[in-house]
Amino acid sequence: MQLAFRLESEGSMTMANATQLEAALLNLVINARDAVAGRGAIEVHTRVVQMHGDAELEDGRYVELCVSDTGPGMPPEIAARAFEPFFTTKPESKGTGLGLSQVKGVAIRAGGTARIRSQIGKGMAVSLFLKALTPQAQSSASGDAPNAPYATTGHCRILLIDDDAHVRDALAELLRDAHYGVEAVAGGLAALQAIDRTVPDAVVTDQAMQGVSGVLLARVLSETHPRLPVIFMTGYNDADTLKAGLPTGTALLRKPVLFADLAQAVQAAIESASVVSR
Ligand SMILES: Nc1ncnc2c1ncn2[C@@H]1O[C@H](COP(=O)(O)OP(=O)(O)O)[C@@H](O)[C@H]1O
Ligand SMILES: [Mg+2]
Repeated sequence: MQLAFRLESEGSMTMANATQLEAALLNLVINARDAVAGRGAIEVHTRVVQMHGDAELEDGRYVELCVSDTGPGMPPEIAARAFEPFFTTKPESKGTGLGLSQVKGVAIRAGGTARIRSQIGKGMAVSLFLKALTPQAQSSASGDAPNAPYATTGHCRILLIDDDAHVRDALAELLRDAHYGVEAVAGGLAALQAIDRTVPDAVVTDQAMQGVSGVLLARVLSETHPRLPVIFMTGYNDADTLKAGLPTGTALLRKPVLFADLAQAVQAAIESASVVSR
């Protein structure tokens, strides 16, 4: 059995739960392994595709993650049901029928879908299409200077702090898409300067950063701007310990952050802050 990878990473940034995505990939490769039964080839392929007039998907760019194999393929009556939870053709001890339904769930939550292409006797491919994030390249070209913050239409202003430019740009773009005005900075010090210019409605910050860390920033803000909601993102596993060191009421999200969770936390924070200040 052969396992090969053909990974194109150019522009292939997406927003998905990393653990679930890993489980999906594992499910697909295990299915392919079962299908080739030791005598074939499996390939994992990633690339960016452009959708146009697709029946199911919005127009735009998607990251395709495809696992193909040279096994027997899937007859149409099985392909029609394969994504159903608990649908399996394997003996009870071998299959749960939950693999492909998990795969589809992950893809849908990343703004996409999953599809099967099968050629009976020759093999098949399952692709996840995950909505691609557009690179934030326009800001200098459009003359949108960094000191013209919150330039979007949103009435709620979010100050976003993350030292990872990829994460920062991706989250800023998603928040702007959700009609928030966003100013994004790379560290705690820049954040304090930005707040000095304009007080935002909420702060979303990473924890581990050079210089002024997220925790330090949150402590400072709890003194200087006690009613300003702070939402914390951390990659650490010890989120509970971290939470103990944070001012009470600080929301904490674990990285990789699901955008739906972030949007909900931001909304909840802004709403509760406006109730308090009334
Ligand atoms: N690569 C593949 N080649 C042929 N058939 C497949 C492949 N992947 C999945 N299937 C079919 O789809 C069914 C459902 O797959 P899945 O949801 O992963 O559940 P399970 O693997 O537990 O049976 C499998 O039982 C099998 O019939
Ligand atoms: Mg399976």
